[in-house]
Amino acid sequence: MLPLIRSADPVLRDGYTDLIKSRFKLRAQTVRQLLRETDRPRKTTAFGRRPKTARERSESEGWHSEGGHNTDDEDYAPGVGLKGEVLEDTDHYYILGRRGEPVTISSFQIEPVRRVATDAGDIIDADVTTTGGRVYRGVRFPREAWHSKRHLLRVLKSADMLWTGSDDNVQGVLKLVAERDVPAMRGIMNLGYAEIGGEPIWVVPESVVGPEGAALPDDVLFVDSGDALHKRLRRLDPIDPAVEAATAALVLPKLLELNTPEVILPILGWFFAAPLKPRIHKALGHFPILCVWGTQGSGKSSIVMEVFWPLMGIRSAEPFSATETEFALLKLLSSTNSVPVFIDEYKPFDMPRYRRNTLHRYMRRLYTGEVESRGRADQTVVSYRLHAPLCLAGETRPIESALVERIVTSNPSKDTLPDRPEMVRAFQKLKTVDLGLLNRGILRHLLARDTTADLAVATRVVEGTLAGREVPLRIKDNLIATVSGLLHFEGYAGSLGVRLPELDVAALVAAQCDDLLESGGRTVKTGLDYFLEILSSLAVSGGIQHNRQYTYSSGQLALHVASCHAAYAEHCRRIGYEGEVLDKKALVRQLQENHRRGGYVTEVSRATTFGTRGDKRRAAFIDLEAVKRLLDVDDFPQDEPSSAGGYGGGWHDD
Ligand SMILES: Nc1ncnc2c1ncn2[C@@H]1O[C@H](COP(=O)(O)OP(=O)(O)O)[C@@H](O)[C@H]1O
Ligand SMILES: [Mg+2]
Repeated sequence: MLPLIRSADPVLRDGYTDLIKSRFKLRAQTVRQLLRETDRPRKTTAFGRRPKTARERSESEGWHSEGGHNTDDEDYAPGVGLKGEVLEDTDHYYILGRRGEPVTISSFQIEPVRRVATDAGDIIDADVTTTGGRVYRGVRFPREAWHSKRHLLRVLKSADMLWTGSDDNVQGVLKLVAERDVPAMRGIMNLGYAEIGGEPIWVVPESVVGPEGAALPDDVLFVDSGDALHKRLRRLDPIDPAVEAATAALVLPKLLELNTPEVILPILGWFFAAPLKPRIHKALGHFPILCVWGTQGSGKSSIVMEVFWPLMGIRSAEPFSATETEFALLKLLSSTNSVPVFIDEYKPFDMPRYRRNTLHRYMRRLYTGEVESRGRADQTVVSYRLHAPLCLAGETRPIESALVERIVTSNPSKDTLPDRPEMVRAFQKLKTVDLGLLNRGILRHLLARDTTADLAVATRVVEGTLAGREVPLRIKDNLIATVSGLLHFEGYAGSLGVRLPELDVAALVAAQCDDLLESGGRTVKTGLDYFLEILSSLAVSGGIQHNRQYTYSSGQLALHVASCHAAYAEHCRRIGYEGEVLDKKALVRQLQENHRRGGYVTEVSRATTFGTRGDKRRAAFIDLEAVKRLLDVDDFPQDEPSSAGGYGGGWHDD
């Protein structure tokens, strides 16, 4: 009987359906399912076809009757199939109601024109036709547009695009759209450096440049994700070679006059290396973060924003701030592998702890280009490759040893500019020039360089300058990356016949070692080193006292660890020092570690007498002369200060 009913006129069939329902006490759904049985295999063929015209549909009233040859199920309403199944017309989508009647769920129809494969999933570009007869061309549907109706409507902003379907129906529409045969393209979302068919190119939103002045292949397309950095990049328009040469002749030597070699060379080298970060990273396994740090008014923001950013094609604009939201930072730092990103106002003490920790984690990951994953509200996980070259500026630099090994520093002083009017003049002169004129030429020069050869030369230069001095491997690599940038700079100048003075690489290397390493040492400063420097200043200010927290005799400084640590921790809290504050356990561990290495700790814990009252306590013994050679530490006063110091007398011998 079922086949008979299946092929019956819809009106009749509805009647039979009701009859069967009451006769066999079945639910309407079950009956519908029974009636559908033979229909299943054909369902898939309903998708992926050209849209029917309104006339075709009204003629058939069915849902996949366009062939018209299957008379047995031609007029059949399935109701349910794949959850959310949707049918389409030329200007809208519809579903079938309980009785198989069409229920319109949109006032538009999406006709894909191309599909773009990107790292963030497939993008579909489509023309959208509305019931009102309007056609919106080239509407871009990112992957997430199909997550829900809310997401879909975010793309369909126009008031005449209405949607009354469910989230599942959105998936149904995606199925229809995805099954269309449209040209497939590859999309580049990353800003800056890319390699296509082995050829290096540089991509910004509105233009592309290669060593030979390239264009993207026909099947490759830049996809503007509209991030903060995109809007700041200037077009790479060709420049009259004579104009470029004249500009370079003026600008390049002036760059070196902006500040002392120790200050300007790390910045210059880093910025001229950054566009080739992907290649340098590939060769070395990492790329340093540039930290420009120093007091207010020392010129940090001006040098980067008004000189080096424009040279690298970034329109002078507000810097990014270290206090951007976590998500904004993540997007920013994953939007490029090579366009230098500048984050200003790094103030670790003023940031909430979790924000600082997040930023520091990003920095560690940037160094090796790791991926950061984030869950989304809809349970999916998005991965962000943190790989931007990052320049950070602030009044301090990070001091955690894990970060210190990952940075190149430049430490301008506020006192330099007032004393050196020629530096101020150089800066003012540069401000009169459109530095962006050089951007295209610099990039073309860099793309054409032989990075393997450059790194080999840079390695020789760095090793020659270090002259046998051992430094941590990462610090050496960071120097090599920076020096390779200086080679790029010299090479670019040379290519335009611009003569430059000799670059003082020795000053660059010495400044890095002085800032980042214990002086004369081979390792980055440890928390213990900072602990001793802070204790030294506390001893001078009376914050800790002879014969109470420490004693000194014949070159040996004995520290009562518990009370010294209490004073140090209290001091750090008081001044808001939220760098790496060691807890007591970590401090003891570092004392032991230093002792084991044969460092300045001569004894980790030995009983000794404090003061004249025969107060005997265990203390750690430090070779003060050795410490003074390595660190910024002075003699610890040996006289009892006249007034009891300390912070509110809040701590005592324990
Ligand atoms: N050679 C120079 N380098 C940087 N800034 C300079 C130089 N010469 C003069 N200036 C001026 O010095 C000031 C530096 O201020 P700013 O860049 O805001 O410093 P910071 O960011 O370190 O606080 C700016 O007004 C800038 O125009
Ligand atoms: Mg500033």
